[in-house]
Amino acid sequence: MSVKDEDVRQKICLALDVSSIKDVGELIKQSIDYVGTYKVGKELFISHGLDAFKEIHRYEKNIFLDLKLHDIPNTVENASRAIVKHNVKMFTIHALGGSEMIKASSKGISAGAKLYANTPPLILGVTILTSFNNANLKEILIKQNINSSTLHLAKIALENGCAGIVCSAKDLLFLRPTLGNDIFYATPGIETGPKNNLDQKRTANPYEAISNNSSLIIIGRSIINSKEREDTLRTIFEEVRCALKDKSYPNEFRE
Ligand code: C5P
Repeated sequence: MSVKDEDVRQKICLALDVSSIKDVGELIKQSIDYVGTYKVGKELFISHGLDAFKEIHRYEKNIFLDLKLHDIPNTVENASRAIVKHNVKMFTIHALGGSEMIKASSKGISAGAKLYANTPPLILGVTILTSFNNANLKEILIKQNINSSTLHLAKIALENGCAGIVCSAKDLLFLRPTLGNDIFYATPGIETGPKNNLDQKRTANPYEAISNNSSLIIIGRSIINSKEREDTLRTIFEEVRCALKDKSYPNEFRE
């Protein structure tokens, strides 16, 4: 059985961590055949705000707004309501903001969906950042280890209105059996080719992430800093295709 190109694309998100719209256009043109979702994070949003959305909407691709909201409930509710206006597919909040803040975000998107007559985006709760290890947690006075902190935050997120979480692809091995399969699992910290992301501590390669049942792999610098972007994209695409294929033949009867 062959895996459809669109199914592969739907698993790949390119983090547009650049500060010019010209670079955004260039990256989208180079990657359009390989990527289903484009992520707008702090660098691009602070540089160009809504023009970044306009550029991505031109290509009819999904937008992932990654501002990782973390504030008092009222502020997050109103920001979440405003996000609905912009037709993004998903956006992030920090699960560390707690249950009241997460509920407020959920209330915000329900109000926004009515106000702007748009489909409400998925709220994704960021658990423990992929740049964190146990030593980093200790520094900010979190005494539990990474796995139990991640599971705890994921539960808070999902019980209070998040449709999914952001975690390391390695975390899926213990999260999926506990949290189930009806949840959207977005996984940054993806490594491929020469090491570009030294700040990321809990990483996985594209094949491993998809084999662990990631819903969406998020990749930035490995593509953006690559001297041969299209080659890198093609390699990632084929690795994802291969992992999807191997998953559908989980035994010796593979083609
Ligand atoms: O360049 P790299 O592939 O490490 O980029 C990862 C992207 O995913 C960055 O835009 C980063 O902000 C984002 N991200 C992350 N870890 C999270 C959530 C989002 O690295 N937990």
